Amino acid sequence: MTRPKVIVYNATSLDGRNTGFPVDLGLYYGLVSTWKEHATLAGSGTILKADAEEAPPESIDAIPADLPAEYAILPVSETDDERGILVVPDSRGRVKIWHFLRSQEYWRGVLSLCTESTPPDHIAYLEAFAIPYLIVGADKVDYPLALEELNTRFGVETIRVDSGGTLNGILISQGLVDEVSVLLHPTLAGGDKDASRLFIAPDGTGVDGAVDLELLSLEPLEGGIVWFRYGVV
Ligand SMILES: NC(=O)c1ccc[n+]([C@@H]2O[C@H](COP(=O)([O-])OP(=O)(O)OC[C@H]3O[C@@H](n4cnc5c(N)ncnc54)[C@H](OP(=O)(O)O)[C@@H]3O)[C@@H](O)[C@H]2O)c1
Repeated sequence: MTRPKVIVYNATSLDGRNTGFPVDLGLYYGLVSTWKEHATLAGSGTILKADAEEAPPESIDAIPADLPAEYAILPVSETDDERGILVVPDSRGRVKIWHFLRSQEYWRGVLSLCTESTPPDHIAYLEAFAIPYLIVGADKVDYPLALEELNTRFGVETIRVDSGGTLNGILISQGLVDEVSVLLHPTLAGGDKDASRLFIAPDGTGVDGAVDLELLSLEPLEGGIVWFRYGVV
């Protein structure tokens, strides 16, 4: 089985939060090119929070006139376009702004990860809008399978995870993450005990033992921010 190298990259506060404080977005996105990623894996929660305000939900009753026949995703080896593919696990079919996302310049293609439990009307929406999707899993997305499919079908060898603690936690707990990269901001974000953080163990009580990391590099950056890169042992 071949799977891509997976990097979890978050901006955090000194108290480990990944929301509730001002992130230096210029610095954050400026470092993304470090990994020369073939794909970005963004949680549906992250996509909905970041983009839903900008774009109204799309409907099968209002298909855009300028819709292409298909949004094919070429394998990495067959394109000179160095942008990555946006990949979103969305088993519940909550993301209804795919035409908008596809129109953004950040990605060369988009891909929805669905499962056998994804509502049929959502699959119909994806097909009507010619949005590529994969069925990978019965209920929730099966990440080992999804990562293997991304590698086999599209030649994805490096994938950066842009998500909150839920998806980060699942991937780390399943042993699928190679690097945890943190842009540590000199802030104590606080929040209540349930406030979002980089790693949320899927069972809510912690994984079986802590996840050990080894320091790969650390680099002080502007504004008191420090960039830590860790390998997962
Ligand atoms: N500071 C940073 O660097 C940074 C970066 C990104 C995001 N964020 C913040 O993180 C927050 C969102 O984080 P979040 O943790 O709520 O959501 P999230 O990680 O963005 O999304 C959760 C993802 O996990 C999937 N998932 C949930 N349970 C699963 C299971 N049992 N098996 C397989 N997949 C499962 C969901 O898929 P389904 O939809 O199929 O359930 C969804 O795609 C936002 O506030 C965002 O701003 C911060």
